[in-house]
Amino acid sequence: MEHLAKSASDQNHHRNRVDACAHSYSDGMASTRPIELRSDNCAGVAPEILAAIESANTGSALAYGGDAITTQLGELTREVFQDPEARIFPVHTGTAANSLALSALCPPWGSVLCHETAHIFVNEGGATSMFGAGAVMRGLSGSDFKLHVEQIQHAFDTALWDDAHFSQPSVLSITCPTDFGTLYTPAEVKTLADLAASRKLRMHLDGARLANALAALKCTPADLTKRAGVNAFSLGATKNGALSCDAIVSFDAQASDQLFYRIKRAGQVASKMRFQSVQLVAYMTDGLWLRLAQRANEAMQLLATGLRNLGTQLVADPQANMLFARVGQPALDRLAAANILFYPMGDGVLRFVTSFQTTDEDVAEVLRRAEIALNPS
Ligand SMILES: Cc1ncc(COP(=O)(O)O)c(C=O)c1O
Repeated sequence: MEHLAKSASDQNHHRNRVDACAHSYSDGMASTRPIELRSDNCAGVAPEILAAIESANTGSALAYGGDAITTQLGELTREVFQDPEARIFPVHTGTAANSLALSALCPPWGSVLCHETAHIFVNEGGATSMFGAGAVMRGLSGSDFKLHVEQIQHAFDTALWDDAHFSQPSVLSITCPTDFGTLYTPAEVKTLADLAASRKLRMHLDGARLANALAALKCTPADLTKRAGVNAFSLGATKNGALSCDAIVSFDAQASDQLFYRIKRAGQVASKMRFQSVQLVAYMTDGLWLRLAQRANEAMQLLATGLRNLGTQLVADPQANMLFARVGQPALDRLAAANILFYPMGDGVLRFVTSFQTTDEDVAEVLRRAEIALNPS
């Protein structure tokens, strides 16, 4: 697992390689339609979200969040996450949401403890340290790609508290679903948040796929966040049907006050914010975000069951919309040749990600092609 974690940091190289590979194969297989399983970032925009953008495109409105839709978004956020003090800050990307939230939670002399496979640690180009004015990231090991009490306790036990030579542990950051598709339950988040609070650390959650977690866990949004002791999190709408739109939700008054200025200084306050806000209002109204995520999760369950039936070795139990399978390089090449689009993770491991656009027919077709690619006679 550690090996895989290491190879995850190499994934860009492999992505480029397999994308090129898939394209060159598909050129020779023009009649075979490509099936998208590379990333939910490759999916389009949900029709409901596009319709919401269209609905906001009438007349004019005050800029920089002074509009009525952004006010409505604030009210909706407080209702959905059941906290009268909650504040929401729309931003353009998950990286901005994570790194700016962490910059507001962590002092420059602090450290952020996270899993060694966390996106904030391996895939955000040091954005957290940059916005955090030198705040340090520390990646911890942990089974199922999750943080556990034991490793955090060890980090606490080996930290040099109140020593200016040592970055002071200040934030605990988890990702749910994790970057490898596993989940923390609300009770597990609460246990970690309590442990963090016992040493005055604040709790951050990377919610790039938060809706997938909520749909899979069947808990309320407040159960996994506010009630579990999370101080701030990213909402993660883009992967689940929004148009380049994420947001930071903060329950922490001190962090919220800072974010008001920090997001502007990072160039993340959109002048026409109503077009972001209207997406997020539509997203969280009447359970749209959960329905979109549920579709992706159901497609993944179907895919995982089918692959298991074909004898495929899964790296972890796919609990949301991501799956990792160890198939070996020759099978990986055959899957790419069959025009199934995926990311290779190194060492013959592939990643499949379903989205709200993945249909049961897509999954059936993948399994039809995989049966041949994985078990050639
Ligand atoms: C778990 C996780 N967090 C954060 C991000 C960052 O999102 P963005 O690419 O919008 O910056 C991603 C993107 O893939 C992600 O998978």
